[in-house]
Amino acid sequence: TRDKMPPLKGDILVHASNNKEGQPVRISELSTQLVRAWPMGKDENGENVIRKGDPNNILALYRFPKGQIVRPTNLDATIDGETVAYSDVCTHAGCSVADSDINAGQMKCPCHSGQYDPKRGAVVIGGPPPRGLAQLPIALQGENIVVTDFFLTFPYPYTNASEWASFK
Ligand code: FES
Repeated sequence: TRDKMPPLKGDILVHASNNKEGQPVRISELSTQLVRAWPMGKDENGENVIRKGDPNNILALYRFPKGQIVRPTNLDATIDGETVAYSDVCTHAGCSVADSDINAGQMKCPCHSGQYDPKRGAVVIGGPPPRGLAQLPIALQGENIVVTDFFLTFPYPYTNASEWASFK
């Protein structure tokens, strides 16, 4: 069903937190602290559907001051080099990654302390994760943050293009 499809081109990002779930995320709400989001698309009747049927669709959004986001982040897939979206699913065993409690602007997995740097393409900077978090290309469309392309790498638990292709 469409609520289990991965984020697809044209989807709008909406809040995942309990008190705001389903509300479109605004750029002004983003900061160097993680905001979790779901992709929201359309069902076969043209109605909005939040793609939270697959927990692997949870996303992490950040906005950093200009110049702080650097490669290997794909800057073309950010908004103004400031706002970036990643898969929020740890590549080690699939836990939802959070803000680091020690180093501001970094991410830490609560399960086995895997660490990622969201300013550098969410590369692994500590712990057991085998690879970085997948970056999701986004753009601003009106006030909405929209998905412009597929994940740039294959996030957990998908490891190859044909697994993803079955959704398209
Ligand atoms: Fe994230 Fe193990 S699941 S470090």
